[in-house]
Amino acid sequence: MTSSVSTQIIEALDAQTAAFEADVLAGLSKTQKTLPSRWLYDDHGSEVFEQITKLPEYYPTRTETAILTDNAQELASFCGVGAVVLEYGAGAGVKSQILLQALQQARMYLPIDIAGDFLAVSAARLRARFSSIEVLPVAADFSHDFALPGDVPVGFARTGVFLGSTIGNLTVAEAVSFLGRVRSHVLEAGTSKPHGGRALIGIDLKKSTDVLIPAYDDAAGVTAEFNLNLLTRINRELGGTLAVNRFRHEARWNEQESAIEMHIVSLADQMVIAAGKAFGFAEGETIHTESSRKYSLDGFAKIAGEAGWSVANVWTDEKDLFAIVGLEVR
Ligand code: AVI
Repeated sequence: MTSSVSTQIIEALDAQTAAFEADVLAGLSKTQKTLPSRWLYDDHGSEVFEQITKLPEYYPTRTETAILTDNAQELASFCGVGAVVLEYGAGAGVKSQILLQALQQARMYLPIDIAGDFLAVSAARLRARFSSIEVLPVAADFSHDFALPGDVPVGFARTGVFLGSTIGNLTVAEAVSFLGRVRSHVLEAGTSKPHGGRALIGIDLKKSTDVLIPAYDDAAGVTAEFNLNLLTRINRELGGTLAVNRFRHEARWNEQESAIEMHIVSLADQMVIAAGKAFGFAEGETIHTESSRKYSLDGFAKIAGEAGWSVANVWTDEKDLFAIVGLEVR
């Protein structure tokens, strides 16, 4: 029996809360308490993230946008004439519009995002703006394997696009398997055409902590709000008792992982309840909530190589803050 749309939404929300609860119970029980960064993005977290992208200290978004704008023609010719473009984690698709605008006779654009309702709205907006490009939204979690819809045209060059340096929020193993998934999507089903597929990946480059730390701990406290909102979410959705004023935000550089880490630091020895369970915090103890990996171009080429790609081109800014890497299936 098919269930109504509202029943499906409630079931999806229940499944999401159950997964959040499982992650909180497991993550707060670890010696180094940890929570997956995807839980930072409830409605408020997503709004605060949008504010982060406009902060003076947070260079990645505006730098990547400038790279796209300055190199739009080259990026479009990298995708080829009549391209099929798949964008992972498309969101509102603001940056991809720069690329879509420059593409020549693009055959199809597939924005892929977990938020299906949001995706439908932004797909409608893109159809209105780019009437000659067929827009086929795909509601899927790109962190797991999924099949593309059957109506993706064959015989056209496919490019997988993953912008925003979101790849930096994945572990190295997750990044390799993600890139492998993109590779299988850009190769047409049943073929392993040697030069059949491409990808454009936005990566944040390794740089001084004088630049990195303020980017993740800004003067206005917006990133702190983004991070600490996770406590509010636990309180709201899982009946938690975490007093936000008894914690603080911290951004740390982990040299070994080549990553900026966000932590929530306990300001006191305290006991809290979350998801019906008591958890103790010592003063200074932290919950690790996000890693944001910063790559060297060689380091990224190695990871891409493990997933069956080779680097064909790199576009960067004057200060080498950020790069868009063009990959070709090997
Ligand atoms: C989404 N992601 C690429 C951001 C980053 O820079 O790692 C998330 C973020 N966290 C704190 N500020 C921004």
